[in-house]
Parts: sequence; C-alpha cells; structure tokens
Amino acid sequence: MNRTLRIPALALAILGCAPFGAAHAQNDKGKAIYDKVCVACHSAGIAGAPKLGDAKAWEPRIKAGIDALYESALKGKAPAMPAKGGATDVPDADIKAAVDYMVAAAKDGAPAAAATAPAGPAAQAAPATPTAPRPAALSFNRLLKPASKRNPPPPEDGIHDPDNDGTHALQPPLQVFESLPRSNAGNRVDWVKALDNNLIGPRWDRTDPAAAPVVMDLNIVREVKGSMPDVVYPHKQHTAWLDCSNCHPQIFIPQKGANQISMAAILLGQKCGVCHGKVAFPVSECRICHSKKKNVMPVKNAQAN
Ligand code: HEC
Ligand code: HEC
Ligand code: HEC
Ligand code: HEC
Repeated sequence: MNRTLRIPALALAILGCAPFGAAHAQNDKGKAIYDKVCVACHSAGIAGAPKLGDAKAWEPRIKAGIDALYESALKGKAPAMPAKGGATDVPDADIKAAVDYMVAAAKDGAPAAAATAPAGPAAQAAPATPTAPRPAALSFNRLLKPASKRNPPPPEDGIHDPDNDGTHALQPPLQVFESLPRSNAGNRVDWVKALDNNLIGPRWDRTDPAAAPVVMDLNIVREVKGSMPDVVYPHKQHTAWLDCSNCHPQIFIPQKGANQISMAAILLGQKCGVCHGKVAFPVSECRICHSKKKNVMPVKNAQAN
C-alpha cells in the first residue's frame, strides 16, 4: 500500500505529548482524541457523520447547544454515532475536549482536509466513499442500542416473526447468556471464550453430528498507517466457527496483503464488516482487532523534548 504519512506528529499523539511548536494549540487534548478516534468517521463523513470543519453540517447541531453535543458524543447518537466514538476507555472530559475541538473547527470553517490530513484514515478512504445513503448494514448494529435494549426476547427483537408460535417457545437470550463469559459489547457474551472453555458446543455440520472444524492457527498482521495499533487477524478464532469458504475467496483472496481493507469498508459492512457488527463483536471494540502495539521509535525525540 502506498499511503503517505507524516509520522512525527502521529508519534507524538500516541505518546500523549503536546506537540512542540504548536503555536495556537489551545486544545491539544481535544485534537489528539479527535485524531485518534473521531477521525475514522468525521474526516470523510462516514455514515453521515458531520465532517470536521464543515460549517454547514455543524450549524444546526451547534444550535442545539454544546450540552446536547456532549451528550451525543458521550452516549452515542442513532443510527451510527457510537458512545465515545467507540473508545469507551477515554475519560468524559477528553471526549468533551474533542467535541470542543470539532465545534471550534466548524466555527472557524477550518480547511477540513488539510487540518486532519496527518491522521487521515478516512481521508485516505474518502475516494471510495461517495456521500452514500445510510448503509443498511448498520441497522443491525447492536452497539447503537442502550445496554438494556440489547438482548430482547425473540418476539420483540425485530428478527423473529412474532406471529409464529415457535418464536414464543424460544428461550430469551438473556436467560441463556447468564452462565456465559461476559464481554462489553455486542450481545455481551465473549463467544471466543465460551467456545474455548467448552461452555457451548455449536454443531459444525447440519447433517453430520460428528463432524469437527479444521482449525488453522495462522495470524495475519495488517500494518495500520496512523496512530492505531496494527491489526492482528487470527485464523484460529475464526476457523473454530467458520469454514474457509465463508471468507475465501469471496471476501478475502487467501494471500497475505492481497486485500485492500479499510475502516471505511468495514463500517459499510464489507470485508471484516460482513460479520463484525452483525454476527460477531462490533466495530466499536477497536482494541480487539487493533491489538498489536507498533514499534514506535521516536522515544528519543520525546525525551529530547
Ligand atoms: C463510527 C463512526 C463515528 C465515530 C468513530 C465518531 N463519530 Fe461522531 N458521529 C458519527 C455519525 C454518523 C454522526 C451523525 C449522527 C446523526 O446525527 O445522524 C456523528 C455525530 C457526532 C456529533 C454531533 C451529534 C449531534 O447531536 O448532532 C458529535 C458532537 C460527534 N459525533 C462527536 C464525536 C466525537 C467527539 C468522536 C470521537 C471521540 C466521534 N464523534 C467519533 C459517527 C462517528
Ligand atoms: C473470517 C474469514 C476467514 C476465514 C474463515 C479463513 N480465512 Fe484465510 N485469510 C483471511 C484473511 C483476512 C487473510 C489475510 C488476507 C490479506 O492479508 O490480504 C487470510 C489469508 C489466508 C492465507 C494466506 C496466508 C499468507 O501468508 O499469505 C491462506 C493460505 C489462508 N488464509 C487459508 C485459509 C484456510 C485454509 C482457511 C480455512 C481453514 C481460512 N483461510 C479461513 C480470512 C479468513
Ligand atoms: C473487526 C476488526 C476491526 C475493528 C473492530 C476495528 N478495526 Fe480499524 N482496521 C481494521 C482493519 C482490518 C484495518 C485495515 C488495516 C490495513 O490497512 O490493512 C483497519 C484500519 C484502521 C485505520 C487505518 C485507516 C483505514 O481506514 O484503513 C484506523 C485509523 C482504524 N482502523 C481505526 C479504528 C477505530 C478507531 C476503531 C474502533 C472504533 C477500529 N478501527 C475498529 C480492523 C478493525
Ligand atoms: C465470516 C465472518 C467474519 C469475518 C469476515 C471476519 N470475522 Fe472476525 N470473527 C468472526 C466470528 C464469528 C468471531 C467469533 C465471535 C466473536 O468474537 O464475536 C470472530 C472473532 C474475531 C477475533 C477474535 C476475538 C477474540 O476474542 O479473540 C478477532 C481479533 C477478529 N474476529 C478480527 C477480524 C478481522 C480483523 C477481520 C477482517 C480481516 C475479521 N475478523 C473478519 C467472524 C468474522
């Protein structure tokens, strides 16, 4: 991949240092959070996100008052703005600083593209993302529902037919999930752990009860340009559930590096997003995929600072 990048600024953002020489950086924290988390959607306007510096898109929102914007950023806003942009471990005050930064950029009418270029994941993805209508893929995304509404009984889940008696005979998910290991996202079950610990025993073949999966232990590391940790794609956890043909060759050519994968595509329900956010843990759980720390070298610079 031939993406260009300005590393030093990013390295500083990772290390959480204030960039030296930033003349009018009144809101370094806000910018750092924006560059790290919010940029994934707010740079290119993924799924209808108001773009950074787009005064027109922000005007009606700013009119609603800063508290309303804080609320949306902290708690999320349907249909596609996740609580804290998915970075639930970031303190409230820092998220608010990111909102302040975005509001200021809108009021400045800042040259959006130029301002965000350094971290620009979505900016790079932009050409592939026309101002698309809201992707239907996202309507399934459980992360956008409050925790209390995530696992309704089958007749109320919008998936099963409430007029079918069989639907009422199904066990409600919450009752089933009670004994399974917890996760913070999706339907709140850590399915990988549940399978590893033999707490569930999904049947591999519809017709042959004795059939077992061919589990392949091969990790593929995808280097991520930008401040996010690299992505480790694990074959093991996937092939424990899924036959190779679920992914190869239709979703992914089986060759390391042969596939173009981007967050924009994933958010639109392609590539990893064919499953993640629908039948596997959602895209809000950045760190489960972005799990490999980069070997960042500029420690030297930081000390010299
Ligand atoms: C996964 C994509 C995504 C990420 C990541 C994301 N946003 Fe958003 N954001 C959206 C979308 C989509 C909207 C538009 C929601 C709507 O009003 O339809 C939005 C709207 C907003 C709004 C306006 C809300 C309103 O009430 O009008 C604010 C403020 C905001 N985002 C802040 C943030 C901040 C701060 C971050 C980073 C911490 C962030 N967003 C990360 C997708 C995202
Ligand atoms: C959930 C999706 C998924 C499933 C299921 C899956 N793979 Fe893959 N596979 C991938 C991805 C993603 C890559 C990396 C492609 C890239 O880097 O562009 C990959 C890469 C590969 C590669 C290339 C390795 C290399 O070093 O070049 C081989 C070979 C492969 N897979 C074989 C298999 C086999 C055999 C199975 C079944 C036992 C399987 N895959 C199941 C997603 C999957
Ligand atoms: C299901 C796995 C998965 C999840 C969850 C995930 N990512 Fe990614 N992300 C990827 C993959 C795969 C790439 C592409 C890496 C490459 O270039 O090969 C990527 C790339 C990126 C990039 C680089 C620019 C781009 O668009 O390609 C950024 C920035 C990024 N992700 C941010 C995030 C943030 C922020 C979150 C959480 C809101 C997140 N990701 C959640 C898999 C994931
Ligand atoms: C065909 C469906 C499918 C595709 C495509 C897919 N996944 Fe998954 N993935 C799953 C399922 C199912 C699980 C196990 C259930 C869960 O964790 O929610 C899983 C689990 C994982 C895990 C393991 C989490 C853990 O707890 O150990 C990671 C990491 C992951 N996926 C990353 C990716 C990345 C990165 C891509 C794209 C390169 C991708 N997946 C593509 C279905 C898929």
